[in-house]
Amino acid sequence: MAVATAQTIQGDKISAESVDRLIAAYGGRAPRYTSYPTAIQFTPAITARQYGAWLKGLKKESGPLSAYLHIPFCDRMCWYCGCNTAVVNRRGPIEDYVARLLGEIDLVAATLSERLAIGNIHFGGGTPNMLAPDEIGAILARLAQRFDITPDAEIAAEIDPCTLTEQWVEAAAAGGMNRASLGVQDFDPEVQKAINRIQPYETTARAVQLLRAAGAQSINMDLIYGLPRQTLEGLEKTIDMALALGPDRLSLFGYAHVPWMKAHQKLIREEELPGARLRYRMQRRAADLLEERGWRRLGLDHFARPDDGLAAAAAEGRMRRNFQGYTTDEAPVLIGFGASSIGRMPQGYVQNASAVPQWREKLERGELPVARGVEMTADDRFRAEIIERLMCDFAVDLAEVCAAHHRPLADLDGSVARLAPMQADGIALVHGPHVEATQTGRDFIRSICAVFDAHLEQGATRHSASI
Ligand SMILES: C[S@@+](CC[C@H](N)C(=O)[O-])C[C@H]1O[C@@H](n2cnc3c(N)ncnc32)[C@H](O)[C@@H]1O
Ligand code: SF4
Repeated sequence: MAVATAQTIQGDKISAESVDRLIAAYGGRAPRYTSYPTAIQFTPAITARQYGAWLKGLKKESGPLSAYLHIPFCDRMCWYCGCNTAVVNRRGPIEDYVARLLGEIDLVAATLSERLAIGNIHFGGGTPNMLAPDEIGAILARLAQRFDITPDAEIAAEIDPCTLTEQWVEAAAAGGMNRASLGVQDFDPEVQKAINRIQPYETTARAVQLLRAAGAQSINMDLIYGLPRQTLEGLEKTIDMALALGPDRLSLFGYAHVPWMKAHQKLIREEELPGARLRYRMQRRAADLLEERGWRRLGLDHFARPDDGLAAAAAEGRMRRNFQGYTTDEAPVLIGFGASSIGRMPQGYVQNASAVPQWREKLERGELPVARGVEMTADDRFRAEIIERLMCDFAVDLAEVCAAHHRPLADLDGSVARLAPMQADGIALVHGPHVEATQTGRDFIRSICAVFDAHLEQGATRHSASI
């Protein structure tokens, strides 16, 4: 295995000029590669009928599948938010959504040709704890009625600590929820004001207590760097305050500022946003600090305690990347439920209608509520594996992937040639078929992956800054 240390540039020691040069060259817009092809390549060519045929072809012997359920409601609109969600302050739309979601579970189960098992359930959003306790309980019960939930299933929910109640935690835990991911972002009150997300520390601490008391085995916290008014010192303090609450994992996302796609982000004062050089230093400092605290950096933006399952999976090259980020979930099939949810089938990706009214209309017609997707070609699978290994391991053996896909190594000559300037700049190492990101290169991994992306041209401008 190549050793990166000779060319490693330690984050804090790297000169400002080098940082500027690397950011200019490799910090531009690039996909986050939660899938390949990325969602920008999805088209209406994947229809309800096509998805139905794919569902029918699923077989129990392929092992348990995973389920993602999207809950597109929030109690407040955080100005930085890039998620598919809306503020609701009435019960009506949520009750209606839950009724349709139960119907979607029934419809998918009825489309399958046999009863299948589920080993992983993830509630995302939006804010799943906007559901009433009996609603989260009813959804989990309906899944258990239509599928065999494996005894060791991981059941997780994304949670807004500010609206979390004991009753909700009890209902979710009774339904089997054993993991949670808490939105935190930053504990600095000045930053919280600038992003319209006031969340006292005690509120987050209380949420952790409630979840642990209910038996949560793993708690993740989401933090963001690159927010308005954020400073290096403030971010360090946020990280230490988060660690004091005893999470198992941390996600540290770079703020994706895409006001042309998310109009409410225009409420963020751009003059208060840290520039590219400070963003770079923030994520370096955060990664170094977490490593000093004994945590493991996993992929682009995740960190875990060394005894956490994700850290073990990463150490053994078993970590996977999906729409929720990094995961130990190795299931080949992910079924998405709810507006905008994305599923992964053996043949390709499928996405439900993004807007709730369109999603609901399709269900009312008795149709699978699909809007778009992409069927993967053999070349997509080949490149997807290279990109996934780089995103997860920061390294890939191209010869191994070529052998697994019956492709000559020469097919990658063009991509490897595009790594040459990255090698010269000390962010990538290429030893024969072995490609690896250096320590510094890890911060630019999205750009290294982009070298292997055969679809990039069409969508390049719609992605967020990669640093
Ligand atoms: C669905 S929310 C988590 C649950 C809950 N809604 C909450 O905010 O507490 C998912 C996470 O996405 C991240 N996120 C949202 N918008 C983002 C953006 N524009 N850039 C980077 N991260 C973002 C935040 O860290 C947020 O916690
Ligand atoms: S960050 Fe979470 S709570 Fe805030 S608007 Fe987005 S989904 Fe809702």
